[in-house]
Amino acid sequence: MEIRALTPLDASAFQTLRLRGLQECPEAFASSYEEEVETPLIEIEKRLLPQRDSVIFGAFQDVTLCALVGLQRERLRKMAHKSFIWGVYVSPEVRGAGIGTQILQHALHYAACVQAIRQVNLGVNTQNTAAVALYKKLGFVEYGLERAYLLLAGVLHDEYQMVCYLKTTG
Ligand SMILES: CC(C)(COP(=O)(O)OP(=O)(O)OC[C@H]1O[C@@H](n2cnc3c(N)ncnc32)[C@H](O)[C@@H]1OP(=O)(O)O)[C@@H](O)C(=O)NCCC(=O)NCCS
Repeated sequence: MEIRALTPLDASAFQTLRLRGLQECPEAFASSYEEEVETPLIEIEKRLLPQRDSVIFGAFQDVTLCALVGLQRERLRKMAHKSFIWGVYVSPEVRGAGIGTQILQHALHYAACVQAIRQVNLGVNTQNTAAVALYKKLGFVEYGLERAYLLLAGVLHDEYQMVCYLKTTG
């Protein structure tokens, strides 16, 4: 298992896996398949240019991209001690094998050691028991609940807001 920051060379594999996730579990993501399917590859390549504050990590099994985690530092100065995690997705065929744990640990380590931030936030559908359990296992705690966060096919979904406080390095 290789886990690393994706680069523009991974744009096509990223887009394929990202769209698969948006189609498979639309209730897990705020973004929609329809909103991302037309995104030109050049835009994705730009998004994957190496940046300290904005990274998309990928896990590879036998050179196949099988998991994604986005990590974005807040852009405003007074919020720059925080990053947020987005787009967590593991291919169905490799779930339950610890890949979600490993790629998130990698992202948290990067947040602490490279971004030198103090906390990582994320949002998760309250019905997503697997993801909630995974985040709790990694030290995330709930600090909020937004009712009716998503409206999908006429059904409202609630979201937990979760935070993981990191050990500061400085
Ligand atoms: C949630 C998800 C990322 C977990 O990835 P994974 O690689 O299967 O996770 P792991 O194998 O590392 O499991 C880690 C922990 O998650 C929890 N977990 C994983 N699958 C679970 C399941 N089906 N039911 C309950 N808990 C589960 C367990 O606490 C597990 O720890 P344990 O093995 O010590 O019991 C994956 O199921 C997924 O991609 N789901 C669809 C997309 C999604 O929901 N993304 C989250 C958006 S916020």
